Amino acid sequence: MAITTRQLIQYKQQGRPIVALTAWDYTIAQLLDVAGVDLILVGDSMSVILGYNTTLPLTLEETLHHAKAVRRGVRHALMVVDLPFLTYQESIQQAMHSAGLVLKEAGGQAVKLEGGYAAMVETIARLVQAGIPVMGHVGLTPQSVHQIGLRQQGKTETDRQRILQEAIALEQAGVFSIVLEHIPSDLALEITDKLSIPTIGIGAGPHCDGQVLVTSDVLGLSEKQPPFAKAYANLRETITKAVQDYSFEVRQQKFPQK
Ligand code: KIV
Repeated sequence: MAITTRQLIQYKQQGRPIVALTAWDYTIAQLLDVAGVDLILVGDSMSVILGYNTTLPLTLEETLHHAKAVRRGVRHALMVVDLPFLTYQESIQQAMHSAGLVLKEAGGQAVKLEGGYAAMVETIARLVQAGIPVMGHVGLTPQSVHQIGLRQQGKTETDRQRILQEAIALEQAGVFSIVLEHIPSDLALEITDKLSIPTIGIGAGPHCDGQVLVTSDVLGLSEKQPPFAKAYANLRETITKAVQDYSFEVRQQKFPQK
């Protein structure tokens, strides 16, 4: 049975941790889905596989292309798609159009938008009213990299209060869940306790209702990864070794055999 946004809220009520990972293509999406991941995020972190330095250049067309491939691999998990930078910030109409394409063309079940400032809360409320499930994202919001960098957020009392208020406002606007990225774990705990929707942490400590990581970090495939990520495999090493072994055998005329 496919997982729904309502089910994730029930998981919070039951104290059952939510497992989320990113997927950018069919193969990984299918592997994650079969392994039993609850939520698969077509994150704008896919920028790395397109060779972009930040998430800013990513387009809606590129996102839709990858999301369609992910859709074909996912049967069970809830599929959430990041709206790329400047495909939802300009106006409510723009956000509605972009989110609509994600649901109608790519088969995403929800969209994720960064930020909890007043205008974004209004946009999100309108999307939710139109029947589009939305996931919020506060704390470190990588689309604002040129404003806030990639450092931990919520270190000062003012910043803590701002992030807390943003999370509350997003819940009131109707999001079904919120990503808390790179904030102190005691702030994540406070937000998690205050909200009745699940918080999904990344670099936000152990007290969130679920955790998300970028799959290439988990697999040890990333060129560089954030300090809070954990690699459970070393695919860079495995792939390099496999390619070297293959090259050796071709050059030694050991592969293919007669
Ligand atoms: O784009 C992404 O992968 C994300 C996660 C890091 C939450 O937004």
